[in-house]
Amino acid sequence: MDQTVLVTGGASGIGLAVAERVLNEGGRVAIVDREPESIARTRNHLDHAGDRVRFDTLDVTNEAEIERVVKAIDAAFGPLTGLVNSAGIAQDVPFFETTAAQFRKIYDVNVVGTFLVSKAAAIAMRGRRHGAIVNISSVSGLRGNLGRAAYGSSKGAVVTLTQVMAVELAPLGIRVNAVAPGPVETPMVAALHTSATREGWIGEVPMKRYSTPDEIAGTICHLLDDTRSSYVTGQIIAVDGGFTAGGLIGG
Ligand SMILES: NC(=O)c1ccc[n+]([C@@H]2O[C@H](COP(=O)([O-])OP(=O)(O)OC[C@H]3O[C@@H](n4cnc5c(N)ncnc54)[C@H](O)[C@@H]3O)[C@@H](O)[C@H]2O)c1
Repeated sequence: MDQTVLVTGGASGIGLAVAERVLNEGGRVAIVDREPESIARTRNHLDHAGDRVRFDTLDVTNEAEIERVVKAIDAAFGPLTGLVNSAGIAQDVPFFETTAAQFRKIYDVNVVGTFLVSKAAAIAMRGRRHGAIVNISSVSGLRGNLGRAAYGSSKGAVVTLTQVMAVELAPLGIRVNAVAPGPVETPMVAALHTSATREGWIGEVPMKRYSTPDEIAGTICHLLDDTRSSYVTGQIIAVDGGFTAGGLIGG
């Protein structure tokens, strides 16, 4: 893959799986994450990639830092051809217990963070009239899942943001799509899902299992790659073992 891709939240889970795929396919990756310890661990893990990988500590809610870091990456490591917005946070809270502070915190990372990094990357890409952005929504942004007033609606906002960006950036040669994963075995889910939650998901997913991070990364890389998806923009692809297709699915 002849790409230079910026991955937010790239030190863990789906973001890390994207970074590994792009590197395995011969591309270059700039990983940003807010956790310095995760970055240090990932740096060791990806040591074999040499100068095809770069690491920066960045919180996607920090507007001034985003502009500085994305510009620096584009100038010194780029030109950027792709962006994957994988940084995200989640919480399962019943509707009546959800506070405004929780709502704002989740929106700040999942929605405003996705917007700000996309804007900085698109400013770099627009002069070259070429680029692909992939956002991460969720099946919880497409369906009313229990306990997900804040998280689910933030991922619904990512759907609309993706569509608006696709429309406005198409004339600039930038494609924008999103994936909407079902349950994926990542550190986020390990912290969030109880055994009852797991049983619930397995019962509702026709394929009767969680996804691996690499299965999500495969679809993301398809959407990044012009040789495979040059006429695809504004789409939300559910990668969910059939969850959003289902109605009554049987035992
Ligand atoms: N795991 C799932 O089942 C699942 C399902 C649907 C959607 N998603 C979405 O996929 C994305 C990746 O999730 P994951 O499961 O890989 O989680 P994860 O926790 O393993 O990885 C997320 C990474 O984002 C980083 N991050 C969080 N807030 C940040 C911030 N403010 N600035 C920079 N980095 C930040 C974390 O440090 C972490 O390294 C998220 O947007 C999540 O909502 C996950």
